[in-house]
Amino acid sequence: MRLRVDGERLLRDMAELAEIGRDPAGGLSRTSFSPEDAQARAWYAAKCEEAGLTLQLDGLGNSVAGLPGGDDEPAVWSGSHLDTVPRGGAFDGALGAVAALECLRRLAETGQQLRRPVHAVVFSDEEGNYNHLLGSTAMRHGFSEEELAAMTGRDGDRLVDALNGWTWARGSRTDTRIDPARLHAFVELHIEQGPKLEQQGIRIGVVTSIVGLSGGLVRFHGRADHAGTTPMDARSDALLAAARFIGAMPGLARGSGAASVITTGRVRVQPGGSNQVPELAEVSLDFRDPSRERVAAMLKAIGRSAQEAAATHGVTAEWHADEIVDPVPLDEGIRDIIRGCATDLGLSSTDIPSGAGHDSQRMALLTPTAMIFVPSRDGRSHVPVEYTTDEDVIAGADVLLGTLYRLANT
Ligand code: GLV
Ligand code: MN
Ligand code: MN
Repeated sequence: MRLRVDGERLLRDMAELAEIGRDPAGGLSRTSFSPEDAQARAWYAAKCEEAGLTLQLDGLGNSVAGLPGGDDEPAVWSGSHLDTVPRGGAFDGALGAVAALECLRRLAETGQQLRRPVHAVVFSDEEGNYNHLLGSTAMRHGFSEEELAAMTGRDGDRLVDALNGWTWARGSRTDTRIDPARLHAFVELHIEQGPKLEQQGIRIGVVTSIVGLSGGLVRFHGRADHAGTTPMDARSDALLAAARFIGAMPGLARGSGAASVITTGRVRVQPGGSNQVPELAEVSLDFRDPSRERVAAMLKAIGRSAQEAAATHGVTAEWHADEIVDPVPLDEGIRDIIRGCATDLGLSSTDIPSGAGHDSQRMALLTPTAMIFVPSRDGRSHVPVEYTTDEDVIAGADVLLGTLYRLANT
């Protein structure tokens, strides 16, 4: 008998989870450490309890579920995240988190004898309201109290304040590192979030590498003044500088490379009155490329562009760049196993790079890591219409189960 997930249970779980954090404006908003995220964590914990799994939490809310006992051998981990972007979809993160749980349940209830334990993990704040890939980065190299204290969300709130009211964390916030000796491998199932698999009619993507990325904030500081009485040439309008800067970003990305992308997804303006000249304009940055060198070059060029825009409009600019998250190749050996599992299940597969960021790119620095992609309808993601068919959800989870089983036994 070939090992398969309980497809109906998996789909039921995905549907239940998709009810948590429904946004009246559309889609799902499960911002990390929000009440909606807490509801999703409670739902997940209840599923673990129902299945007789233990659930361990760290100080930043990362969770690791497993079967009681038998933890002497390095473990095979799988999982993803439950948080979403604002008005996001029901599959990004959710699929990998729920499928890993389903695989663990399936291995347990079919009484598989495994040489190594298999664990299901949920990472905190993957979408980076406070810090992109917060949880997996904390597992890899941890954060100091000062670094955590400086992290703020898109509403200007502080991570440490959000964590103070948060029940789904235990213990030290700075002592979150995982000893690589505890790990044998990590595998994440995820939706592709792009159009390639669907266009090629291929069921399973074997991810070759994950893009390098960084981000940050540019703050333009001008001077607030009366909108009616201040002549046009006597103003220091921070938002005009921001507008010039934002307009320069597509050209900067094109000049960097064919695969370079830059996004300015959010602008905050203060004081914010329609009859006031803007004093502060803060622009968020997200930029990516498969090459670390090009990400580093964009980081510098963005700073220069901000200074140029500021000088043109008689304001000042500060560039607060995030740490660069390196691009990573994924493990060849696990990719072979994934391909083999797909073939055994009669599923077509192809190699594919990831343009999205994932916790896997932090886990890859700790242990051999791979990712499985399934198709996204029309290539859409980070939007309410994000969708993957039931058949592809189950196919991806079956490939994950086979891969975890082999990794746990070889
Ligand atoms: C995560 O979804 C990212 O790529 O930003
Ligand atoms: Mn994701
Ligand atoms: Mn995402």
